Amino acid sequence: MIIQKEGGREIAHETRNTVKFKMIAKTMYGLEEVLADELRAMGAEEVECLTRAVSFVGDMTLLYRANYSCRTALAILKPFAEFEALDEQQLYDQVYKLKWEKIIDVDSTFMIDSTTSGEVFTHSYFAALKTKDAIADRFRKMFNRRPSVDTENADFKINLHIVDTHVTLLLNSSGESLHKRGYRQAVGIAPINEVLAAGMIMLTGWKCDCNFMDPMCGSGTLLIEAAMMANNIPAQYYRGGNFAFKRWKEFNLLEWKMVREQEDRKIGSLDFEYEIWGNDIDMGVLEQAEKNLQYAKLHKDVMLYNGSFENQEPPEGRTIIVTNPPYGERIKIEDLNAMYEKLGDTFKNLYGEQCEVWLITSDFEAMKHIGLHPSRKIQLYNGPLECRLLKFELYSGSKKGAATNA
Ligand SMILES: C[S@@+](CC[C@H](N)C(=O)[O-])C[C@H]1O[C@@H](n2cnc3c(N)ncnc32)[C@H](O)[C@@H]1O
Repeated sequence: MIIQKEGGREIAHETRNTVKFKMIAKTMYGLEEVLADELRAMGAEEVECLTRAVSFVGDMTLLYRANYSCRTALAILKPFAEFEALDEQQLYDQVYKLKWEKIIDVDSTFMIDSTTSGEVFTHSYFAALKTKDAIADRFRKMFNRRPSVDTENADFKINLHIVDTHVTLLLNSSGESLHKRGYRQAVGIAPINEVLAAGMIMLTGWKCDCNFMDPMCGSGTLLIEAAMMANNIPAQYYRGGNFAFKRWKEFNLLEWKMVREQEDRKIGSLDFEYEIWGNDIDMGVLEQAEKNLQYAKLHKDVMLYNGSFENQEPPEGRTIIVTNPPYGERIKIEDLNAMYEKLGDTFKNLYGEQCEVWLITSDFEAMKHIGLHPSRKIQLYNGPLECRLLKFELYSGSKKGAATNA
């Protein structure tokens, strides 16, 4: 314990753990670069993009901060053991040797999340089972009891990662996936994942320096993520402090509180003075969007309109339009090709050169019917669906009326 004097008062600080270690932030395919930028901005060192993940170095403060404020991370993992195993018995023996009692409480719950590649461990399920057995057997031998397995909501989530014979065990410091922000009170039929929504906005390069609009906003995920960015609200502000690292033996409450206070103090610091608009044809989903916005206390920051997209002009001035139209997977549209054609016409006729449109879709056939050439195509995944995020730049001449000046 360190006693520090602050304005005549004595304040106790538990000693801060400044030891640096390697961490892995998991993300979605295509968002690695934006996540790497987020981590660098937080002071992460040795940042390296992997596939669906970013590795970096930092201390416990950074682990707390990355969990609280990274918009494009799904989980922050802390590696704690690495070894070679040539078969399942060696995997069991090596896992058994680790001092699990220093990490997991005997009365808590745990689960193993495994990924394997290579020719030795061909079934990730069996590798996970062997690992679970080794941990349980060690506890039983030492304490005559063992922590229970809970595959839904375990206190300790352990990631088992095997490439050929190389085994890495990592502790998930986030617990529930970080896309569960806590603001979603109502869900539309096909809401986009919050991490994907934030990642798409970041890929557009929007710096909260102009208007933002989603003409097919559904339950409002893109709008809420945009409004959170515009207000500098940490990604997990509404999560209620639900993080797995709080159950760790090394958890430092004062350090965590300090990080949270530092991040919360930035709220509102951007002086955002532009418009955020949403539109949807379905009044029911708009009501859900409004409920979510009200929960997040962002309803005054976002205007919602009801109608078909071709009737809704964007706000005046420079506007970034980011949208997630139906792909025909979960929302059935009679003629998706015709709808995409109408979308293209709307971009040309209703949106002016002040607008830049970004649209995500997994329907590569319907995409061709937009009738405009995208200036960028970025590969992303919406769940299992391979998608493209398309960028359309609109020039004077694409808008009716201005065409004669072209
Ligand atoms: C994939 S969902 C969008 C989901 C949204 N991003 C969210 O997170 O909830 C597509 C939305 O397009 C809307 N939609 C379909 N046809 C439309 C039209 N002609 N004009 C405006 N919205 C439309 C649907 O009502 C639906 O909410």
